[in-house]
Amino acid sequence: MALCIVVLGVVFLGLCFCTALLRWNEVKYRKLKSLPPGRMGWPLFGETTEFLKQGPSFMKNQRARYGSFFKSHILGCPTIVSMDPEINRYILMNEAKGLVPGYPQSMLDILGKCNIAAVHGSTHKYMRGALLALVSPPVIKDQLLPKIDHFMRSHLANWDDRVIDIQQKTKEMAILSSLNQIAGTESVSMSQEFMPEFFKLVLGTLSLPINLPGTNYHQGFQARKNVTGILERLVRERRASNETHHDMLGILMNGGENRHKLTDEEIIDQMITILYSGYETVSTTSMMAVKYLHDHPHVLQELRKEHLAIRERKKSDDTIDWNDFKSMRFTRAVIFETSRLATIVNGVLRKTTKDMELNGFVIPKGWRIYVYTREINYDPRLYPDPLTFNPWRWMDKSSDSQNYFFIFGGGMRQCPGKELGIAEISTFLHYFVTKYRWEEVGGDKLMKFPRVEAPNGLHIRVSSH
Ligand code: HEM
Repeated sequence: MALCIVVLGVVFLGLCFCTALLRWNEVKYRKLKSLPPGRMGWPLFGETTEFLKQGPSFMKNQRARYGSFFKSHILGCPTIVSMDPEINRYILMNEAKGLVPGYPQSMLDILGKCNIAAVHGSTHKYMRGALLALVSPPVIKDQLLPKIDHFMRSHLANWDDRVIDIQQKTKEMAILSSLNQIAGTESVSMSQEFMPEFFKLVLGTLSLPINLPGTNYHQGFQARKNVTGILERLVRERRASNETHHDMLGILMNGGENRHKLTDEEIIDQMITILYSGYETVSTTSMMAVKYLHDHPHVLQELRKEHLAIRERKKSDDTIDWNDFKSMRFTRAVIFETSRLATIVNGVLRKTTKDMELNGFVIPKGWRIYVYTREINYDPRLYPDPLTFNPWRWMDKSSDSQNYFFIFGGGMRQCPGKELGIAEISTFLHYFVTKYRWEEVGGDKLMKFPRVEAPNGLHIRVSSH
């Protein structure tokens, strides 16, 4: 009996404590007038657990309750979630009004303080200018496409008669191809040392910023030191040798046509930015394209037709050139449809630099805004029969110019690597579908949220075409 009373007492006190905490959290934020509807959840944790556990359905449920513009508290910050296409467009177009990138501190710490997502205003302008000069159409045409072609041929050699994990292969492809574009021939000798460090760095950017030995954040930080060490050595060696290099680092060190010459620290962070930004986006889109092509043989047939026609015009060792790339209309459609249906990028993060009015509400300074673009990809008004993989939907309209095309972001931060990324995935698909047939081994799980990934790999049995 006494034990019962004690247990009931403890439960009662626990309940009182939790209710008080919840009320404290609500009251704390209610003082801020005119916030949009929504819940702040538990102190510190907010609604993070529900968000991570339920993913897209959490967002849909909240939208059903509060509309397309609601408040929450996720991933450690008070956050406004915007699912409204028009407001999302406004946010992306108006960085100058105080809506700057709002990526987690762990990401900014590990990617470096000169990283493009960490800088605004005039610094962003010249860092972006320097980056655009590396991936402009003439550079892709004359320097990058031949490199990409050469790399893909060797990366895709000897897959015949083997079971391969296409997730692993596309990850290696994305990082090694970027490294080759940045550092040319030196990339080969660097890659063994570089790759494991880079993978740790990526994990660190996606972790909680707890700097204790053993945490991903701590290891990510160590990995950043090692990665910058390798890149600094490369810059030093090049300076000592005085040779001219026709690669991204060569342009960065020369200053290109940019009026603003980058410091060594900026050059290093620029290289890390390129490697990081193109890594998961390019690899996951390539993996998912392989998945969808496997599941939709009529699409694969059409894609193969496009690439065999290109091959017929060429000798076997002729590389893919700019005209070939531009003629790959169906391939481009397959890439857009893959990005749309798999939603490789759920949205982008911004934060307010001052109190500001948005959509009729006052958003306090320092709040995050999650520009959540995922649902736009499944809007039947924009994409009839939205759950069907149908690349043809991209063939009859100027796909990337529609107002709500956010797969590559929008406004001043729109992806500068869009064409480069498409060129890489297209060249990969070219050699993959013209050389090989494949079957899934089966039984592999695919997760779609918070990131698209196959937790145990995506295994396929490959044979020669
Ligand atoms: C399929 C491939 C790709 C997709 C889907 C993609 C997607 C995106 C998106 C959605 C953004 C906007 C981020 C924001 O607004 O906060 C972005 C920005 C960016 N992307 Fe990409 N990206 C891809 C490939 C690449 C590649 C290959 C590079 C390498 C150069 C790259 C470099 C960047 C950079 C540097 C930014 C930041 C731009 C800025 O802040 O001004 N991306 N990308």
